[in-house]
Amino acid sequence: MMVEQATIGDLPVIVAMRQEASDWLAKKGINQWAVAWPNPEAQAERILSSIRAGETWMIRTDDGDTAATVALDSFSDPQLWTESEQAEPALYLHRLIVRRKFAGLGDDIVEWACRRAGQLGNHWVRIDVWTDNVGLHRYYEQRGFKHVRTLELDYPSGALFQRAATDWREQADADKLAEQPQNLPTSSPN
Ligand SMILES: CC(C)(COP(=O)(O)OP(=O)(O)OC[C@H]1O[C@@H](n2cnc3c(N)ncnc32)[C@H](O)[C@@H]1OP(=O)(O)O)[C@@H](O)C(=O)NCCC(=O)NCCS
Repeated sequence: MMVEQATIGDLPVIVAMRQEASDWLAKKGINQWAVAWPNPEAQAERILSSIRAGETWMIRTDDGDTAATVALDSFSDPQLWTESEQAEPALYLHRLIVRRKFAGLGDDIVEWACRRAGQLGNHWVRIDVWTDNVGLHRYYEQRGFKHVRTLELDYPSGALFQRAATDWREQADADKLAEQPQNLPTSSPN
């Protein structure tokens, strides 16, 4: 598996993956992502601007098949995170989606994100999770994330979690996900 930065051509792929994920969740009776937030245009624009900023990643097989996607950025939303939290160097994980035929890959992506955050000098990987989706809260807790707090806002993902970024001194070189050489920032964007 390779991790590479998404390009603009990946936008429809990501939108389709999100749809596939929400259809799968709906069959399980979970309403997360049932409606684009706040609307489909704004959602596509958010994904596009993340791609343009080099903050969306695609995980592909050696054959070029897309297995998963994730976004990682350093924007600390003041609606969600306190001033002192915003002052801490952190990467924020968004839109983690693993296509169903690659289920199980999420562990490696979470580890990759924590290593990347550490390499870039961050202390935390943070995520805002669908407020009432306790199954998903459990998913992140089982992967080392700690619940920070749950906010009741006009925003569907008010359950905040964080995990310490992997200390660069402890980083094993046995990365399962190889990163393709590219123009990556070499220092913390924070
Ligand atoms: C969350 C996700 C990335 C995890 O991928 P993964 O680590 O490869 O693992 P799986 O897809 O096998 O999911 C692991 C477990 O979490 C559950 N799960 C996954 N997404 C879930 C969700 N959104 N809500 C509730 N449970 C969820 C799965 O049903 C599975 O449960 P099981 O072990 O009882 O079968 C992937 O399931 C996915 O793309 N989910 C839909 C999109 C999503 O919710 N992304 C997270 C946004 S914060």
